[in-house]
Amino acid sequence: MNKMINICKRIVGGDFVNESNKYPFMATIWYLDGEEFKFKSGAIYIGKRYFLTAAHCLKNREIIRMLVRMGDTSLRRLPMTFRVKKAFTHPNFNGKNLQNDIAIIEVDKDVKAEPIRIPCDHLKDNCYNLGHKVKVLGFGKDCAASSQDHLLDLKEVDLRIVPIEESKYHRSLITNDMFLAGNTINGKTVDACTGDSGGPCIKMIRQNWVLVGVVSWGSGCGNKNLPGVYTKVLSYHNWIRNICKFGGCGNH
Ligand code: ARG
Repeated sequence: MNKMINICKRIVGGDFVNESNKYPFMATIWYLDGEEFKFKSGAIYIGKRYFLTAAHCLKNREIIRMLVRMGDTSLRRLPMTFRVKKAFTHPNFNGKNLQNDIAIIEVDKDVKAEPIRIPCDHLKDNCYNLGHKVKVLGFGKDCAASSQDHLLDLKEVDLRIVPIEESKYHRSLITNDMFLAGNTINGKTVDACTGDSGGPCIKMIRQNWVLVGVVSWGSGCGNKNLPGVYTKVLSYHNWIRNICKFGGCGNH
């Protein structure tokens, strides 16, 4: 029996998403690799023709070779495909320490999907409370050692916002514009992993999903006391609103 598969299935944990329209804002980035487009990372639909992702997902990539695809929970069938018209990497993104790991993608045509809300100041007291439950979504690996680059079906896992003191990360690595999220479910440490980058970390606030984080980095995957590190979306809401020309606090 393949022992690795058994080990892998349990490390990152979580569940497959069965309902195709449960997270209509979940999107993916594909890149032309030789003759075919291949799945590379997550993205999030935030309204109009705009998506959020992690800046490191766009690094060294040309937008003419990129697609954004969405509309279902399986990479085998994603009914909506967009070309990228423009990409806005955060001006202070630092590829070495992954500070300001956030980017906006503008696609070439209208998107017929329900966007997720992005937080703004009036939600700031609700977004990043330590111990609160959040959820991460992605097609990333279910184990750091997995030989597959990613999964074919979307997974979700429940996490909690973790204080820096509870992690083994050096304080200087985690800025105020990042947060940590991790969890232990049935004795296993759950986490995001490679391929989940650029995807959403969401929180239910007053019966709506709010985008609190973007999957950014971690030390390995599913390691105890090394939770995933997320870009704090609230820190960037003015930058996002300016580029996307969203009025008020909504996304539209
Ligand atoms: N940087 C990774 C990627 O490019 C995702 C890292 C998330 N890792 C984690 N252990 N939470 O897909």
